[in-house]
Amino acid sequence: MKGVIFTELFGLIEQTQGEKFLDDLIDACDLPSCGAYTSVGTYNYSEMQTLVTELSKRSGLPAADLLEKFGFHLFKRFHLLYPNLFVDHTCPLHFLTQVELVIHKEVLKLYPEAELPSFNTVAKSTNSLELEYRSKRGLAPLALGLIKGCLAHFGSMGTVTMEVWEEGYNAVLFKIRLNP
Ligand code: HEM
Repeated sequence: MKGVIFTELFGLIEQTQGEKFLDDLIDACDLPSCGAYTSVGTYNYSEMQTLVTELSKRSGLPAADLLEKFGFHLFKRFHLLYPNLFVDHTCPLHFLTQVELVIHKEVLKLYPEAELPSFNTVAKSTNSLELEYRSKRGLAPLALGLIKGCLAHFGSMGTVTMEVWEEGYNAVLFKIRLNP
């Protein structure tokens, strides 16, 4: 998993819980990288699982809720970090259809070792979209937060539901509907 995801998670934890909380969390996790991430580095995905599990224990919140909150925050950060990927976009639904076709392809050019999920558009109309998510990393709750962050970014109101197809969040169906 790319370091940018870890550094952004740490940024959010530090901002909301403080530096000491983050230092204690890192100490408790006993991570192979010792938590010394750089945004361009690549780390084992299991470190993200360890961090989120420990965070869940310490906050009392389910891991899926934490990942969703992180995803919402991450979308805003992606806009700041990779503004060129947002050029020409005005519609959140169109943006979401481009994640698989264009955006993650650009991510792979930047970071050839990135491990990305697959998004398949299964239904689409002017105000709704159904997206199938598949990944062996099971980060669908992160995607849920990113999708909600995408709607908020474009100033759109609507509903996003996640139908879990496989235990472990490896395959889910997102139904996104914008308010008329
Ligand atoms: C400009 C927007 C975006 C950028 C720059 C971006 C970039 C990235 C990067 C760098 C990773 C890490 C890959 C790795 O760790 O090896 C990633 C993973 C991921 N992205 Fe995106 N992404 C964007 C938009 C989105 C959106 C809108 C969604 C949801 C629909 C999404 C869903 C995910 C998920 C769920 C992962 C975790 C990996 C997995 O589930 O297997 N991304 N993305």
